[in-house]
Amino acid sequence: MSLTSKTIVITGASSGIGAETARLARFMGAKVIGMDRNDPAITLDGFVQVDLSDPASIDAAVSALPERVDALVNAAGISGLADRDLVAKVNYLGLRHLTEALVPRLSGGAVVNVTSILGFDWQARLDAHKALAETADFAAGLKWLADNPVPQETCYQYFKEALVVWTKKRGYRLFMDHDIRVNSVAPGPVMTPILGEFVQMLGEERVAADAANIKRPAIADEIAPPILFLCSDAARWITGINLPVDGGIDALYT
Ligand SMILES: NC(=O)c1ccc[n+]([C@@H]2O[C@H](COP(=O)([O-])OP(=O)(O)OC[C@H]3O[C@@H](n4cnc5c(N)ncnc54)[C@H](O)[C@@H]3O)[C@@H](O)[C@H]2O)c1
Repeated sequence: MSLTSKTIVITGASSGIGAETARLARFMGAKVIGMDRNDPAITLDGFVQVDLSDPASIDAAVSALPERVDALVNAAGISGLADRDLVAKVNYLGLRHLTEALVPRLSGGAVVNVTSILGFDWQARLDAHKALAETADFAAGLKWLADNPVPQETCYQYFKEALVVWTKKRGYRLFMDHDIRVNSVAPGPVMTPILGEFVQMLGEERVAADAANIKRPAIADEIAPPILFLCSDAARWITGINLPVDGGIDALYT
């Protein structure tokens, strides 16, 4: 598996999983352009500040990206403690807006979305997720969500489920039409700065029950290699999958 001389754009590159993916990709020979609302804490080959909740900010950031991109890793995300509209924008609509804007530059390349084990129940709401996936753009997605409101308490899970479904639907079409592979990686709990918010979001009782069933939370350097495998040519026949990287939680739920 080689990333030598590939250009990889990574959102969320200033913290946690995105930062570790950026570090490993550079170590493996890739040129990495980070995108985040915060400044990066590691050396990158380029950095573009962006607010992924705002399509105008995304469009401005896209104009600062290279003309050719080999892979896009959508790792930026927020927890369900944020307002549900902001979760919809950052974790789904903005991610989708950025990806679609880069389609002309990604031909023959790959997209990897970071979902979550908390999106495991996507089939339970498949029709709704397909309908949202079919909305034409950011504004149409917002309108659909205004007509089909998502509960605040489960908005994080909902938009991770929706992202799994968009990855599959769009992953199939983009591969057929543009030779672009779109996959996702679904981590279980990972020791990053956002983890405390997930504990608050799920409640101590649920977290204690989950903790009894797993060996430990992951370290970000256990999530980055599968992400970069899906970016690499070694995964050239893989598109539309959601790969659990969770120490067995998906197997437990099955
Ligand atoms: N840590 C976990 O336990 C865990 C588990 C499953 C999935 N995930 C997912 O992994 C991804 C990465 O999370 P992490 O654990 O690295 O968290 P993190 O908080 O360490 O990193 C998230 C990054 O996203 C950036 N970001 C947030 N909102 C943004 C915005 N509006 N515009 C631009 N950048 C923005 C933040 O600045 C930060 O650098 C997220 O999508 C998260 O939902 C995390």
